Amino acid sequence: MEKNKVIFALGIIIIFAIVGAGISIVFGRFVSFSNISSVVAASEKTDVAVQTGMAITDAGGAIAFNPPSVQDAPANIKDAVMLGHNILTDTRKYAGQYVGNKLDCSNCHFKGGMTQGGKNGGLSLVGVGATYPQYKKRQNYSVDLVTRTNDCFERSMNGKPLPADSREMIAIVTYYQWISKGLPIYADIPWLGVKHLKSGHKPDEVKGKQVFADKCAMCHGNNGQGTPAAPPLWGKDSFNDGAGMHKLENLAAFAYKNMPRGNPDLTPEDALDVAAFVTTQPRPHFVPRKG
Ligand code: HEC
Ligand code: HEC
Repeated sequence: MEKNKVIFALGIIIIFAIVGAGISIVFGRFVSFSNISSVVAASEKTDVAVQTGMAITDAGGAIAFNPPSVQDAPANIKDAVMLGHNILTDTRKYAGQYVGNKLDCSNCHFKGGMTQGGKNGGLSLVGVGATYPQYKKRQNYSVDLVTRTNDCFERSMNGKPLPADSREMIAIVTYYQWISKGLPIYADIPWLGVKHLKSGHKPDEVKGKQVFADKCAMCHGNNGQGTPAAPPLWGKDSFNDGAGMHKLENLAAFAYKNMPRGNPDLTPEDALDVAAFVTTQPRPHFVPRKG
C-alpha cells in the first residue's frame, strides 16, 4: 500500500513536471518570438524612415525639405499618386475637360509643385497635405484641399471645378498627401506660399511695358499670347482676373524669383513695374458660380 502511494505521488509529480516544462517551453518561445518580432518591426520602421528620408527636421531643428518621390508610393496608392502628378504636370492632357485656357498647373507650380519654392522653384505644393483645411479670406471659411484646388481650376485655369469624388480630384489630393509625408500637421512650412517683395517702390505700368518688351516678350510673345517657349500671360488663353496670379504683389514676387525662366534677374522695382503692366492687360473675367 505505502509503496503504491509513493509510486502514485511520484507519477503525479512527473506528469506535472513534464506538463510544466512543456508549458514553460511553449510560453518561453512565445515570449521570445514576440520580443524578436517587435524588435524586427522596430528596426524595419527605422530602415523605412532612413530610406525614404523621413527626417523632418534638420540639424538646426528647422523643417527639412525632403519629399518622397512619386515612384516610391506604396502599391495601394501608387496609381492615384502617379495620376495626380500627371494631372499637375500635364493638366490639359489628363484633366482637359476642366481646363479653359492654355496653361498647366506646373507653369506656376513648377514640376507639379515638387520644388522647394525660392529661386527658380515656382510655387511649391510640398506640405499642403499637412496645412489644410485652412481659413481663407476669399471664402471667409476654412477650406479643404478640394476647394482650394478647384479655386485654381476655376481661376488660374479659367475652367470648371472637379467633383470632389471624381477620379481626378481623388488622385490630386492623394498626390498632395504623399508628397507631404512626414511633415508635421499645421507646421509653419517655410517654402509654402507667396512672399511679397519688401519694397516701397510705387509700381509703374509704363516702365513695366518696357521691362516686358526687354525681358519677357521673347518667350511669352509681343502680345503676351504665349509661344512654344512659354505660356500666355494675358488674353483669352491666360488665367482670369479672379486668379491669385492676377494680384500685382503675387505676380511681382513670382516674376522676381522665377523670370526670365532659368535665369531670374529682375530687380524688385522691375518686377513690380512689369506686374503692374501685365495685370492691367485684358484677360478672361471670373464669374463666380451660383449656389
Ligand atoms: C497662373 C498660375 C497658377 C496656375 C496655372 C495654377 N496655380 Fe495654384 N496657385 C497659384 C497661386 C498664385 C497660388 C497662391 C495664391 C494665394 O494663396 O494667394 C496658388 C495656390 C495653390 C494651392 C494652395 C497652395 C498653398 O500653399 O496654400 C493649391 C493646392 C494649388 N494652387 C493647386 C493648383 C492646381 C492643382 C493647379 C492646376 C489645376 C494650379 N494650382 C494652377 C497660381 C497658379
Ligand atoms: C526664357 C523664356 C522666358 C522669359 C524670358 C520669361 N518667361 Fe515667364 N515663363 C517661361 C516658362 C517656360 C514658363 C512656364 C514654366 C514651367 O512650366 O516650368 C513661364 C511662366 C511664367 C508665368 C506663369 C505662367 C503664366 O504664363 O501665367 C508668369 C506669370 C511669367 N512667366 C511671367 C514672366 C515675366 C513677367 C517675364 C519677364 C520679366 C517672363 N515671364 C520672362 C519662360 C520665360
